[in-house]
Amino acid sequence: MKTLDCALLTLDRRERLVYWPAARLTLDKGRIAQARPLGRKARPGALLAIPGLVDAHCHLPQYPAVAADGGELLPWLKKHIFPLERRFKGSYARELSRLFFKDLAAHGTTAAAVYLSVYKEGAEAAFEEGARSGLRLVMGKVMMDRGSYDDAFARKHPRRGRAEVSLQESGELCARWNGAAEGRLRYAYTPRFALSCSRELMRAAGAEAARRGAFVQTHLSESRAEIAAVRRDFPEARNYADVYGEAGLLGPRTLLAHGIWLSDAERRTVKASGSVLVHCPTSNAFLSSGVMDLPAARGADCRLALGSDVAAGPSLDLLEVMRQAVFAQRLAGAHKLFSGAADRALSRGSAASEVLGAAKAFALATVHGARALDLPVGAGTLTPGAPADLVLVDPAEYDPFAPAPDGTAALARLVFRGSRHAVRATFVAGKLVWGKA
Ligand code: GUN
Ligand code: ZN
Repeated sequence: MKTLDCALLTLDRRERLVYWPAARLTLDKGRIAQARPLGRKARPGALLAIPGLVDAHCHLPQYPAVAADGGELLPWLKKHIFPLERRFKGSYARELSRLFFKDLAAHGTTAAAVYLSVYKEGAEAAFEEGARSGLRLVMGKVMMDRGSYDDAFARKHPRRGRAEVSLQESGELCARWNGAAEGRLRYAYTPRFALSCSRELMRAAGAEAARRGAFVQTHLSESRAEIAAVRRDFPEARNYADVYGEAGLLGPRTLLAHGIWLSDAERRTVKASGSVLVHCPTSNAFLSSGVMDLPAARGADCRLALGSDVAAGPSLDLLEVMRQAVFAQRLAGAHKLFSGAADRALSRGSAASEVLGAAKAFALATVHGARALDLPVGAGTLTPGAPADLVLVDPAEYDPFAPAPDGTAALARLVFRGSRHAVRATFVAGKLVWGKA
């Protein structure tokens, strides 16, 4: 049993904002046993408790390439990313994993969906370090049987194909790690994207993931050059989303990064499958990929989450990602870049500021992210019975006028001015994973 006296800011399970300047949190057996406001006379908490943040899309082996500037998606992958992922083995992979998980926790992230590289041994090291980190992680070895950077493959497997080995190794990793570390680790079949995979590999990956109750993660509709190439490679598919749909890769445990250039038909496909669109605004800006039509995704009732997409996103800081999401959506709204519901609402006189606000961005990084990763019930909130996944931040780092007078102001100050530098301690299942208790 642990008691924390602090300020508290969270959405509840119905996404209503809760803010108590003076609160007491009681943690027991890895869960929040009690969360309650202290009386008016109580001194406001010096630290503010918020739910642990959920990064629903990032790439561990790419971490050293953060801020490697220049180039759009396809040339950037070739120039900066594939050479780096090719190194993800041995002690290097282990040390990089350790650093990456420590930094996730230091940024207030308690759960993440993580791509590894094509190498099984690097993936093993990442899972071992992931187990040690105490974080909740959905991870998978990247699957590529086209255009792979593993140029030693033929030497190592003279009689076998890439798809066959990729499936076997993914299966072995899934058998060992899916549900390990008291359920904190889960496996994601990770076909990189349609351009890296044959139809046969995608089909088999979809079937295996379903059979084993594992996640699927991949990229969808990120850059225009990518989409044109997918059209060339899969001429019989109606659209990009259908390439995955026909391969059996879509479903409620599927995380689809980006979805910037989706048609209405594709959004309907995504919605019908229950797959999650993971919005990655800092990555989309960094690689000049585009601005996701978030109002259209919402209008189609698609499930949504938020991702840093490190290293295409330059930072693991989800407060920064939330802020950039809000800014990009508002600017796109003001410039009437969206074709559907948002533009119609804006021409009826709704303000561009309504396209996305701090509370909705925060919801994406907490409650919606937690549901996307199928975390235990209540995760993403600080409500009784929820897992004790939480972050203590110091508002003095970003708010010269703290404490904020109300929840709306507290949340806006956090999202528009907060950063990882305010994070003091990060807990998962009641256990300190970073910082000081
Ligand atoms: N599409 C395929 N692979 C990648 C990747 O590593 N990063 C991003 N942003 N998009 C991709
Ligand atoms: Zn990515």
